[in-house]
Amino acid sequence: MEERIKALREQMEKRISQIDSKDKLGAFWQDFLGKKGSIADLMKGLGTVAKEARPAMGKVINDFKVEAEEKYRALSGQMDQMELAERNRSEQVDITLPGKKRPLGNLHPLTVVRNEMIGVFAGMGFEVFEGPEIEDDDHNFTRLNVPKDHPSRDMQDTFYLDGDLLLRTQTSGGQIRVMDMQKPPIKVLVPGRVFRSDSDATHSPMFQQMEGLVVDRNITLCDLQGMLDKFVQQIFDANVKTRLRPSYFPFTEPSVEVDVSCFECGGKGCSLCKHTGWIEVLGGGVVHPKVLENCGIDSSVYSGIAFGIGIERITMLKYGINNIGLMFENDLRFLKQFKD
Ligand code: DAH
Repeated sequence: MEERIKALREQMEKRISQIDSKDKLGAFWQDFLGKKGSIADLMKGLGTVAKEARPAMGKVINDFKVEAEEKYRALSGQMDQMELAERNRSEQVDITLPGKKRPLGNLHPLTVVRNEMIGVFAGMGFEVFEGPEIEDDDHNFTRLNVPKDHPSRDMQDTFYLDGDLLLRTQTSGGQIRVMDMQKPPIKVLVPGRVFRSDSDATHSPMFQQMEGLVVDRNITLCDLQGMLDKFVQQIFDANVKTRLRPSYFPFTEPSVEVDVSCFECGGKGCSLCKHTGWIEVLGGGVVHPKVLENCGIDSSVYSGIAFGIGIERITMLKYGINNIGLMFENDLRFLKQFKD
């Protein structure tokens, strides 16, 4: 028995020195320490040993077993460490490499201009209100002093929906919604999408407007021009001024078309201003007393001014864009030019 143990110990040393993989380590366990391994065999053989010698022999076998287990554990620990070291090496990150840059996006030019416009009027104390894109006839037309069958309805080509509903043709309906909710003093902006059956280089079936409304005591056309002067100076150029021309809108009386002096040529005349020195930018006027009354506001006490600005038009003028479609095609080559 002792001879066998001695031979097995030598065999074990030899096997241990050859182990260089987890597979070999596993096989070692099976052969020596497994249920059918050599040490289990030794234990079984204990029955053949003389009774008196059995305890001492049992201890020898047991010591051998402990020794084999320790060797196994030590090797297994070593291998785990080597494996970890290898993984760390292969997964190493070189933190000195230059980082991958993610391209930064930018706001759509219409959003830039819309925000800029709101910023200018917010500086004058305007609040922002947004009305619905699907509007009813009452808000879009009737209460704005455009009765049914009135010829001024033809000024805008309307997309009608079921019943009394339509896609709003103008943000002016927002005026009614605001005056229904709030009594003077009122100073509000209504930005939003509007829809008209119209399409060419300067018209799109969907575009954006920004309505302005001020209602208080003693509001006059001069307030309108003063505010719009500040607006065009901040949006286009500090040296520009406005000019009011008589016009017609059903919801304002008097109504005006507002021109800005040409910021390209300083008023001398160029292709942008079609050699007139002036560029038309928006419409506005003094709120028609009927519109105030339609909202329960006493027109003998209060007066108001209103204006409607096309956001696409301002954007096209500001950046020299000659086709409105470019702003809706979402061609990145076009949009990327508006990065600040
Ligand atoms: N709603 C008009 C349009 O779409 C623009 C406009 C003109 C708005 C005069 C106003 C205004 O508030 O007073 O053409």
